[in-house]
Amino acid sequence: MPLGSRRLVVSKQRDYYRAVRRAAAALNSDMPLKQILDTIVRSTANAMKAAVSLLLLDSTRSKLIHSSSWRLPQSYLHKGVLEADKSLAAVLAGQAVAIADVSQDNRVQHPELAAKAGIVSILGVPLIVGGMPAGNIRVYTKERNEFSNQDINFVTTMANLAAIAIHSDALRQGEADEQEKSQAKAAVLQQARTAAFAHPSEEEFAHILDFYHIEWVYEPRAFPLRWEGDRVTEMFTPDFYLPGLDLYVELTTLKQNLVTEKNRKLRRLRELYPEIKINLLYKKDFDRILAKYGYGPLAQARGRGISKVLYSSTEIHQRVRELAEQISTDYADCHPVMVGVLRGVFCFMADLVRQATIPVDVEFMAISYYSGGESSTVKITKDMNLNIANRHVIMVEDIVDTGMTLNYMINHLKNREPASLGVCTLLDKRVRRIVDVPLDYIGFEVPDEFVVGYGLDYNEEYRNLPFIGVLGPEET
Ligand code: PRP
Repeated sequence: MPLGSRRLVVSKQRDYYRAVRRAAAALNSDMPLKQILDTIVRSTANAMKAAVSLLLLDSTRSKLIHSSSWRLPQSYLHKGVLEADKSLAAVLAGQAVAIADVSQDNRVQHPELAAKAGIVSILGVPLIVGGMPAGNIRVYTKERNEFSNQDINFVTTMANLAAIAIHSDALRQGEADEQEKSQAKAAVLQQARTAAFAHPSEEEFAHILDFYHIEWVYEPRAFPLRWEGDRVTEMFTPDFYLPGLDLYVELTTLKQNLVTEKNRKLRRLRELYPEIKINLLYKKDFDRILAKYGYGPLAQARGRGISKVLYSSTEIHQRVRELAEQISTDYADCHPVMVGVLRGVFCFMADLVRQATIPVDVEFMAISYYSGGESSTVKITKDMNLNIANRHVIMVEDIVDTGMTLNYMINHLKNREPASLGVCTLLDKRVRRIVDVPLDYIGFEVPDEFVVGYGLDYNEEYRNLPFIGVLGPEET
């Protein structure tokens, strides 16, 4: 080997050795997991003189999320959800994949975006945690690179160090029982996939989604909105994508009168990408959601007293009778079980079952409510006594607002394998819906007002009113 080439090989070996030493030192330190992964990614990138990203599978194991990356352009990082089975799929099966020319290779999900970001070659090596594929480490170079065995072995070593970091962090957190362990693993993966939120309310919203077991990804995709020639001049990156609902959510913290620009972008997005479902939550909507749980600026800002009667006692009874008649016809020979979610439902449930003309069983459940902060999740605080397997079940709610409670309850009850599962709600506040839950029987569609009475409360008051009224206006 000529002297020059030998020097290059020696210098490369030295760079690789230095990177491994740095990564091992980080692994043996008391740094949080995210910082250890960042160190491993940066050391790999510096040693290889390339851009590097560590991608982890999300909890559905179908999508890959960039969890730590170095030198990758933002536009490439936010290019969209990476389907695990389309993007270098062989890596997840345990093989290293080296692609010398991404523009000529169908194993890359977005070759055109890679080309735009100046990426010519990619090396992907598997990240296997505790014997299970958990993601991969990818190296991106701007110059054509055939990737030698030495390169592949080096990146595989770094991936193994990252896997040890993830695994030992999960073990450290998951103390005694199996359930705690899996929660800890989920929390570790969650921590690794959580980018820094741009605003505290986004983090709070993520906690609410976690609470109701709704899968989310933060800022996964940037949508180009305008171009000058080939150059994108305007983009829009929604804050959240909820894969289970195939829904994007944009949370605006701007004051209501400053959202015109955002509305314009959203209109443009809907025109250009009509297949995309996106929901815009204004600050006011979000504050109202928080106020439901006793948080945020509106929590105590409600004027006292009823500003108007929305449905009188007579109107409610008339409508409840109609619902009961309809249910009695539809479930004539089924002897259904009506399951109410406490506590708001108690008046409606009592009247509904008394107006029904068929035999029904009555059950109640209660669940915990969001109380802020990381790692709280909804729990059943009062379960049913009846076994509902093979029974016809009707969930009864007083109001469906964001739909997150009902979505959780439906998924929960489905696991108990009822013969059928219907939903009856007295009030449907459709305008505030986040999760599109199916409703079979609806009493009234209500406007975006804070409604109380006939079981519904505000800070536990007003449940005993015989009518449904609108609470006094917010005093912000
Ligand atoms: C109400 C209602 C539903 C839930 C709907 O309960 O009884 O269970 O809100 O809201 P969502 O669609 O936004 O999830 P609440 O939290 O007021 O408790 P309560 O029934 O004890 O009054």
